[in-house]
Amino acid sequence: MSVRPLAATAAAVLGVGALLAPGPVARAEQSAAVSPGPQGTPLVIAHRGASAYAPENTLAAVDLAADMGFAWVENDVQRTKDGELVVIHDDSLTRTTDVEQRFPGRAPWKVKDFTAAEIATLDAGSWFGAKWAGARVPTLEEYLNRVDENGQKLLLEIKKPELYPGIEKDTLRVLGEEGWLDAGHVSCRLVIQSFGAASVKAVHQQRPDITTGFLGSPAVADLPSYAAYTDQINPTYGTLTAGYVAAVHRLKGVHGKPLQVSTWTVNTAADAARVAGYGVDGIITNNPDVVRDAVED
Ligand code: G3P
Ligand code: CA
Repeated sequence: MSVRPLAATAAAVLGVGALLAPGPVARAEQSAAVSPGPQGTPLVIAHRGASAYAPENTLAAVDLAADMGFAWVENDVQRTKDGELVVIHDDSLTRTTDVEQRFPGRAPWKVKDFTAAEIATLDAGSWFGAKWAGARVPTLEEYLNRVDENGQKLLLEIKKPELYPGIEKDTLRVLGEEGWLDAGHVSCRLVIQSFGAASVKAVHQQRPDITTGFLGSPAVADLPSYAAYTDQINPTYGTLTAGYVAAVHRLKGVHGKPLQVSTWTVNTAADAARVAGYGVDGIITNNPDVVRDAVED
């Protein structure tokens, strides 16, 4: 088990008031996979971890989300030059690490052009703030173990699958090796999503029991074709309407339950209240505390 200082981390970042929220275990037990939050409110999913307060897609961001009481975290998975899966959003290492200083001759510093050992040496925290210096780009293995230790649940995004042929099989292999494909995880602690329809379809074909999501806003007329291999349609919030949410909900997903909607990336109380009013099932947010307060009000 992790021995990280839970309360100390949250208090340092958010202040004592944040600690009045329920702890990780209490929250985790309140929300099953694709089930609503308290009182039927949308599930709140910490986007790239609690990424408004800690460097995105790091173990620190996952830990902070747990300390704030959030069971669900979202991440982004890509593949290194030597075939390791790592958790990072951009296909370049430049924005969130010190790669340009550490490897000046390696432009354009793509994830796929660096080995896992090289990426493991990078500082993925200082760009966000000096106090986060030394945070690393986690491997998927490290990330899964930490999410498990925290008792959390994972919305895993296969990022830019067109850059990484076969990444679906690799992802499923690592998930299996780390114990994430047993019944307990698959039934209520794991959703795999992607902007790539072929990638979502590949995951479903290889592991039909896994809950999947398509990132995007397909035309209503096209929704039935997505429902053949996915359980969620996860659109950006900007153009979302109540009518679109209702149209998605009218269909059944591949596992026979109503097709669901988790929208992103909703970071203000006003936007959270708006999309909650549309009846979305989940809200993916950098500011999970703001969204929780808004939807539970
Ligand atoms: O989970 C939805 C969201 O993460 C999709 O957009 O660019 O933040 O990965 P992006
Ligand atoms: Ca993402």
